[in-house]
Amino acid sequence: MKLTVLAIVGGLAAQSLAAPAPVPYVLHEKREINTDKWTHRDIKLNRDALIPISIGLTQRNLENGYDLLMDVSHPESSNYGKHWSMEKIKETFAPSAETVSSVKSWLAEYGIENERVKHSKSNGWLKFNATIEEVEYLLRTEYSAYTNAETGNDHLACKDYSVPAHLREHIDIITPTVHFDAIVKPQKKQYRDLNSRSLRVKPTPQIKPGSPDVAPQPQVTYNLANCYQYVTPECLRALYGFTNGTLALSSYGIVEYTPQAYLQSDLNLFYANLQREIASGYGPTVDLIDGATVQTTTQSFDDNGESDLDLQYAISLVYPQKVTLYQTGDAVEGASFNNFLDAIDASYCTSGGGDDPTQDGIYPDTATGGYKGAENCGTFAPASVISTSYGYNEADLTAAYETRQCNEYMKLGLAGTTFLYSSGDYGVAGNGGQCCTKAKCAGGTYNSGTTGTFNPAFPATCPYITAVGATQIKPKGLVTATQPEEACETVIYSGGGFSNVFAMPSYQSSAVATYFTSHKPTYTATQYNNSQTVRGYPDVAANGANYVVAVDGSLSLVYGTSASAPTFGSVITLINEQRISSGKSAVGFINPTIYANPSAFTDIVAGGNQGCGTAGFTAVAGWDPVTGLGTPNYTKLLAVFQALP
Ligand SMILES: *[C@@H]1O[C@H](CO)[C@@H](O)[C@H](O)[C@H]1NC(C)=O
Ligand SMILES: *[C@@H]1O[C@H](CO)[C@@H](O)[C@H](O)[C@H]1NC(C)=O
Ligand SMILES: *[C@@H]1O[C@H](CO)[C@@H](O)[C@H](O)[C@H]1NC(C)=O
Ligand SMILES: *[C@@H]1O[C@H](CO)[C@@H](O)[C@H](O)[C@H]1NC(C)=O
Repeated sequence: MKLTVLAIVGGLAAQSLAAPAPVPYVLHEKREINTDKWTHRDIKLNRDALIPISIGLTQRNLENGYDLLMDVSHPESSNYGKHWSMEKIKETFAPSAETVSSVKSWLAEYGIENERVKHSKSNGWLKFNATIEEVEYLLRTEYSAYTNAETGNDHLACKDYSVPAHLREHIDIITPTVHFDAIVKPQKKQYRDLNSRSLRVKPTPQIKPGSPDVAPQPQVTYNLANCYQYVTPECLRALYGFTNGTLALSSYGIVEYTPQAYLQSDLNLFYANLQREIASGYGPTVDLIDGATVQTTTQSFDDNGESDLDLQYAISLVYPQKVTLYQTGDAVEGASFNNFLDAIDASYCTSGGGDDPTQDGIYPDTATGGYKGAENCGTFAPASVISTSYGYNEADLTAAYETRQCNEYMKLGLAGTTFLYSSGDYGVAGNGGQCCTKAKCAGGTYNSGTTGTFNPAFPATCPYITAVGATQIKPKGLVTATQPEEACETVIYSGGGFSNVFAMPSYQSSAVATYFTSHKPTYTATQYNNSQTVRGYPDVAANGANYVVAVDGSLSLVYGTSASAPTFGSVITLINEQRISSGKSAVGFINPTIYANPSAFTDIVAGGNQGCGTAGFTAVAGWDPVTGLGTPNYTKLLAVFQALP
């Protein structure tokens, strides 16, 4: 198969390249991500094989992005709530003409003439096909073949790459390089291997079933006295002090990744037992992104649990506000967060310029049964609040990739969207309970989680989203008698800690400083970055234990920051409803406001988030890297946001 392009092709003389004037090169990116599945192959490459190269150009004004976002989001700003149009955002951040022309002249100097180079419609990417020989010379690197231990598929990657020193500031990222799973395309035939794509690191749903996973049947009485065992929409309203919506003025989006899918029959079962105001047959508005389907062919907890949970709670808590389901990715290839962002923002969309094929779904999907249409690009409107209960480890992806995506949340915050991400279910460990074998999670090598370096979650550590951790009601008490809750320690542990990638945003610096002054953790700098200069997460928390969810025809108990994120998002959606009814904007990026108003939260001061063979961090008075500022007090939080213009 692909060995034909990887093997030496005898008799072909290497093309000689014109030698450009020497300019000093500097290292641009080095591989420091998880490569467990890949083994280096000791074979020689066909250096005449063409590979598709994408150069992500540096955008203008990103250095001002934080301040621009604060200008519309900080409670003390006179421009609070004056969100930007997508057009203004696109213009403000598009790469400069100088960036485009200096990168193009570099390419031309290396024999890659401008006619070969396509410029994406977002202006953000340059794309061209070049031989391995050309690229190795251009990037001062060496490509090697790797084999996936599970599938035997071959892939192309390098350990690091360099660019001319004067261009470093103009280039974010070049692919395929240090990122994994890159696909070598034969010169003539387009070929993509189905199995190799299913090995892309996929965002992981942050949900777990109880054991047994079918527990409380309809004969159980669900009431407030039972909330410590069975969490229902009624319990959440009582815990956080909100009632149902009334005005249907606000918008709320839930993102799901195919093959995860909800079943209408499960929604109906849920309403019949737990939300009788909603009629059977009521469902979300469905936006199908990149050929997505809400599949019903395979049904199991893994196929339906996440979507059923997210939609049953989001729909019930914000009703009669309509929930939009952003179902993302076709059934063959699946998708990443970038595919979703492309679909709601044409300025991010990389059509004609290329997402990172190592991480993102690429459409049209050439595989059998794959989606043959073009990738959705700015096709759907972003809702005012968007909750996602999937996540990566920071060390699954490169810092450049994460930074580029994180900046996109900044832009959509400028446009007035609140992004909520679950903080993870494994405490200080990463998805699956894995920890890192090296400091800073460098090299991305993971162990089974009994020891090692704490493994932070992405996008939870992106400073432009709101990360939601999980709590539980203290056992054996009534809701009203057990406030505050404690950090979730039933089945899951609230994801939390400190980033290895993102600097600390100023909105949380005083909260984090207080945490270190009053409750400095005893762990060393080899376990986590204790410099007090990096982003701490989560920002907030909500209940994440014992949710009663209808899955595949039965009521089950489920656990996870997957539950707390849509619940917290519902609270913000109800606040938006009230603000809009007062003639105000949606709240947009909430972090500067909530850190300035910690008393609008019920502080969580018990429990911890164990992992990596440690007790993890502990929930203490004030902000902590387990439950953030705490759980929402709707009345107080509404008052805070209603007091703003
Ligand atoms: C690269 O080659 C592929 C396969 O021939 C083609 O589909 C694609 O458009 C080319 N890309 C560019 C930027 O020329
Ligand atoms: C919210 O805060 C007020 C004032 O402290 C308090 O009386 C009320 O019980 C709180 N509500 C919830 C749901 O915690
Ligand atoms: C809101 O809640 C009240 C009381 O719980 C209920 O009577 C009413 O039907 C609900 N309205 C909607 C739109 O769900
Ligand atoms: C912690 O983060 C800071 C800021 O990024 C960095 O300078 C420092 O090297 C990191 N420390 C460790 C031990 O990783």
